[in-house]
Amino acid sequence: MVTTAQRVLAGLARVKERGISLGRRPLEDSDAARVDPVGRSRRSLAPASFRRDLTTQPPATIFRTSSAVFGVTETDKLLNRRELCLGALPAVGTITAALSSTSALAAGTVSVSAGRTVKIHDNTIVPALGQGSARLGQGRHPEAAEEEALRTGLSLGMTLIDTAEIYGNGNAERLISHVIAGQRDRVFLVSKVWPSHVAGNGIERACDASLARLGTDHLDLYLLHWPSGITEFSGVVTAFENLVSAGKIRAWGVSNFKVSHMEQLFHVPHGDRCATNQILYNLGDRGMERDLLPWCEQHDMPLMAYSPLGGPDAGLLRDLALARIGAARGCSAAAVALAWTIRNGKVIAIPESGSAAHVKENAVALALTLTPEELEALDAAHPPPGR
Ligand SMILES: NC(=O)c1ccc[n+]([C@@H]2O[C@H](COP(=O)([O-])OP(=O)(O)OC[C@H]3O[C@@H](n4cnc5c(N)ncnc54)[C@H](OP(=O)(O)O)[C@@H]3O)[C@@H](O)[C@H]2O)c1
Repeated sequence: MVTTAQRVLAGLARVKERGISLGRRPLEDSDAARVDPVGRSRRSLAPASFRRDLTTQPPATIFRTSSAVFGVTETDKLLNRRELCLGALPAVGTITAALSSTSALAAGTVSVSAGRTVKIHDNTIVPALGQGSARLGQGRHPEAAEEEALRTGLSLGMTLIDTAEIYGNGNAERLISHVIAGQRDRVFLVSKVWPSHVAGNGIERACDASLARLGTDHLDLYLLHWPSGITEFSGVVTAFENLVSAGKIRAWGVSNFKVSHMEQLFHVPHGDRCATNQILYNLGDRGMERDLLPWCEQHDMPLMAYSPLGGPDAGLLRDLALARIGAARGCSAAAVALAWTIRNGKVIAIPESGSAAHVKENAVALALTLTPEELEALDAAHPPPGR
């Protein structure tokens, strides 16, 4: 049985073989455009009130069940239970050396999965690190490279893939269909319906279209992309529940919901079956820690953090505090940023990359536990709200 630790280790070994540096790539000025997958400014998609809220909030985690967890094995869970963490180890180089020792794994002296999975309300377990797709299939990289990047992520344990009907007008879903063909069972597949499609039987039609583009008969999670323009959520909940009954989706959730939206949703019959809220959350955007994160913790609901590297320009990776910790631990600033985002076992991060080399850097976060001193240094550089 191949564990998450072994997958990360194998990936790192391949990185070493090919001589790919674990350091981050230099960022270019051209990365700066913050544009959403349908070509509009991402910020412009959110109503002004929510934009304000996004800059003052916090994060969360996910998933489903049984022993058939997504990319997480029984061995991982065993190691997990021993509550042995990597935080005491000084560098990822040391971590990988430790992981390469089968005897260390067998003896339970090393764990890579403590806090590295997230559970949702129906007990499904998913990896705390997934893969986004907002700008995949749109010519930013050659399609073959993007498919290889996603496959690399899957092989390293990042088995949750997030997409949406609007990403590249369905092109991201089409590209993902090539990647998951032949290995659908290993993937926890998330897609989203755009709010202007919810009227009438729009959610069912949008879901059918996503399933067709993805080449699958079910989604593991289906989200309402934004609350914008929807004044009453009972119709949405009913449509989602009908899709669950029909076997087209396993669970449903929301995205870009403020606390007030969550309260409204939970007042609707079965609204509390919502599995997660996917929101903007990263070290530089901690506003959700003020109210949304505590609210979700109270309701035992994991959050899913989008733009965990700072968004399309990966702007967070220019951060000196992250770079310093990465240099000390022998990994990239990206790995440190992601390890920070998934630090509490209640948040799933979904970084996007169309580059296999970047995905390998990102996967290191699955095996990286930040020390209290490192967390303090990051808090000092990026204080939580109210501090
Ligand atoms: N629900 C929503 O409203 C919503 C909104 C935004 C995003 N999302 C979801 O969240 C996902 C991620 O968010 P995001 O795309 O906004 O931002 P992100 O994941 O924070 O950053 C993506 C950018 O980082 C770069 N990158 C990734 N790994 C890197 C590394 N190791 N070193 C240097 N650069 C790296 C990528 O370029 P390369 O391809 O060159 O690696 C890409 O340009 C999206 O794909 C989407 O699935 C959801």
